[in-house]
Amino acid sequence: MEQATLPHPSRTDTNSPPPGSNAPAFLQGIRYIRDPLGVLTDLRRRYGDVFTVRFPFFGRIVYVASPELVKEVFTGSPAVFHAGEANATVLEPALGPNSVLTLDDEPHLQQRKLLLPPFHGERVRRYGELIREVTRREMASWPVGEPFALRPHAQKITLTVILRAVFGIEDVRRIDRATVLLDAFSARVSLITKFPNLRRDLGPVSPWRRFLKARAALDEFLYEEISIRRGEAGGEERDDVLSLLLEARHDDGSPMSDEELRDELLTVVGAGHETTATALAWAMERLLRNPRVLARLRESLVAGEDDYLEATVKETLRARPVIIDVARKLTAPARVAGYELPAGSFVLPAIGALHYREDVFPEPDEFRPERFLDGKADNYAWIPFGGGIRRCIGAAFAEYEMRIVLREFVERAELSAPDSRPERVRIRHITLAPQRGTRVQLERPLS
Ligand code: HEM
Repeated sequence: MEQATLPHPSRTDTNSPPPGSNAPAFLQGIRYIRDPLGVLTDLRRRYGDVFTVRFPFFGRIVYVASPELVKEVFTGSPAVFHAGEANATVLEPALGPNSVLTLDDEPHLQQRKLLLPPFHGERVRRYGELIREVTRREMASWPVGEPFALRPHAQKITLTVILRAVFGIEDVRRIDRATVLLDAFSARVSLITKFPNLRRDLGPVSPWRRFLKARAALDEFLYEEISIRRGEAGGEERDDVLSLLLEARHDDGSPMSDEELRDELLTVVGAGHETTATALAWAMERLLRNPRVLARLRESLVAGEDDYLEATVKETLRARPVIIDVARKLTAPARVAGYELPAGSFVLPAIGALHYREDVFPEPDEFRPERFLDGKADNYAWIPFGGGIRRCIGAAFAEYEMRIVLREFVERAELSAPDSRPERVRIRHITLAPQRGTRVQLERPLS
């Protein structure tokens, strides 16, 4: 049974940190790696809506896990709750200092204003046909009658789509080249983000040296793409993201430098494909273990309805949030959840714990899209895309893409799960992915 959550502390104890386990940091880190979703939910049940965790390398982290406290953080002053600085501790070696993810204050707002329009509202709809076409092509490569992992196929779809949307690249050979370079880069980046103490040169085969090599190869491709496009200035009308950024001007009238462009392009491509692919893999993993939901989804699609599909996407992102928490670093002392926290503290809305609150999402272990059928999702309780002025720029794009791809998967493929046990949650780079990549089997040729 759910334990009552603890009240905010009284005025007298506000200077002590929020409660949490006394276990050594490395043990807390191991528990987190083994069961990231379960651990945050357990900690909330044990210690209440605000609790402290200690991790190796990252030190003490304060988590908040109620809609009220999440609102407090998301609506707190962006000058005090720095997301860029917090993200940079993990992401800067990969994305650089000019990324919308690693910037704060005015420079962040400027970049965000530039990047939002192409991924917003009606603008995302013009990618519909492209997404469908890329999905169909990828599905044609699925083997019949033998098990395979779905996640890599989903990732090929989302990467091709984002490369076309961001660079406007049509040439298949360049897309293939970008795919190879990005794969090599992401294989090297994982260790570097998880273990900051590896960010130094320990010889030619050290993780840092290999990471730098993969990054240099990818950068060469990105700078080449930028230079080709600068050379085309005044040519054909294009509306991809790179074209918009090339037109953009700083307040002093200067254009973005190549380094700024590189960081931003990689940010959008990096943030925009692995996340969506993993969410798609989870959607199928959950559907194949919940035949009632899958059957209802099929019926609704046959009936030409979209609302159950939309709700299935939302429920997937609730039950299996791809990103488990979002980070803010305090630039000044601040009162959070009734505690006085010093400057430098990390404060993280715990998406994983919030989405499993009985009082907000009754029977949270059940996969039940019906909870979202009214089309509403609370901004401070359902937060797979974070929130406030840092809310994911690609949220509308990602949900739209998921709906199109999922419809193709469900309507055209009869898939089964060779092993009916739920797949465990595994940390992959900075995402939570299905341990076996969503193993599926195509029972008969595609319809
Ligand atoms: C299911 C897919 C996705 C998930 C779960 C996801 C999740 C997130 C989360 C949790 C954040 C941090 C928000 C915060 O700090 O409050 C974020 C930020 C961001 N995402 Fe996504 N994302 C997804 C897809 C995308 C796509 C498709 C794009 C690009 C088109 C994208 C681009 C970005 C960018 C640029 C930011 C930084 C926003 C800022 O700091 O102002 N994401 N995303």
